Amino acid sequence: MSEQVGVAVLGLGTIGGEVARTIVADDRLRLVAALARRLESANRAGIDPSLFGVDGAAIVDNPDVQVVVEVLGGEQPAADLMIRALANGKHVVTANKEAVSKNLPAILAAARDGDAAFLCEASVGGGIPLFVSLKQIMETNRIERIRGIVNGTTNYILWKMETEGTAYADALAQAQELGYAEPDPTADVEGFDSSYKLAILASLISGRHVRPEEIDRTGISTVTAEDIEEAKLKGGTVRLIASAERAGDNLLLRVAPTFVSGDDLFSLVSANYNAVEIVGDNVGPVMLHGQGAGPKPTASAILSDVFEAIRSGSAATPKVML
Ligand code: HSE
Repeated sequence: MSEQVGVAVLGLGTIGGEVARTIVADDRLRLVAALARRLESANRAGIDPSLFGVDGAAIVDNPDVQVVVEVLGGEQPAADLMIRALANGKHVVTANKEAVSKNLPAILAAARDGDAAFLCEASVGGGIPLFVSLKQIMETNRIERIRGIVNGTTNYILWKMETEGTAYADALAQAQELGYAEPDPTADVEGFDSSYKLAILASLISGRHVRPEEIDRTGISTVTAEDIEEAKLKGGTVRLIASAERAGDNLLLRVAPTFVSGDDLFSLVSANYNAVEIVGDNVGPVMLHGQGAGPKPTASAILSDVFEAIRSGSAATPKVML
């Protein structure tokens, strides 16, 4: 990469600010523009205010932009901007599980039309190289089951309640303070965020568009200190588990607070960590573990995707026909 590659960042929240600063510090990349609602976001992120803009379409259409990093969160305008960028031949990297899970077929179609890369490693499992591992396993296996802790905020809350007896509301406030939670943490605690992530995983392993609303979802807002004490007395704990399991031609899809026994690796997943078990028919169970939420792990996965998009172009896009 001799010339700098022009990148636009859509969204300058906790994750977007970290991504923008990392791009500015990397001499292989040039931050061309940053989309946010208010100039204060650029100032807070420490970004040159002249790069700040409020017109997303103008930013993705900018001929100096070769890669668009979308970290706006929420379905719209994120999905439409990603589709517009891809259809115009720009690579897109995102951490936005809601927009991806609800619009995967249209996004992949735009990537095909524009012959561009679409990568979303950071949308599930934060910094864990999850899709890259899944792709490798899927080369030679039929995936029988995926089971995981895919939300850092709820894991942090349950772990704090379990290990320190912290009250639910206090643990949630800490997770917000640490930059793990969504702007509206209802998405975390009611299991929506986990269902978006599970829908993406299930779509990739099944080759059909699995919609988040197909998932049987229960959050953690009704888990009490007594529930956790009872689990501890039984030699285990409670974790929010997302699972996709083959049953004939169907997938059983579920997000729910679940008892995990002390000899289950999921019981050891602490703080903002995530863990995902992928079971292939040849390889058997493979367990991946790492920080699932937070600016630095998420930015790490996003920047890896940016370089993969630059290196491999449209060949980097997951080969799923939806
Ligand atoms: N709010 C999400 C979580 C962020 O806590 O896991 C990472 O997707």
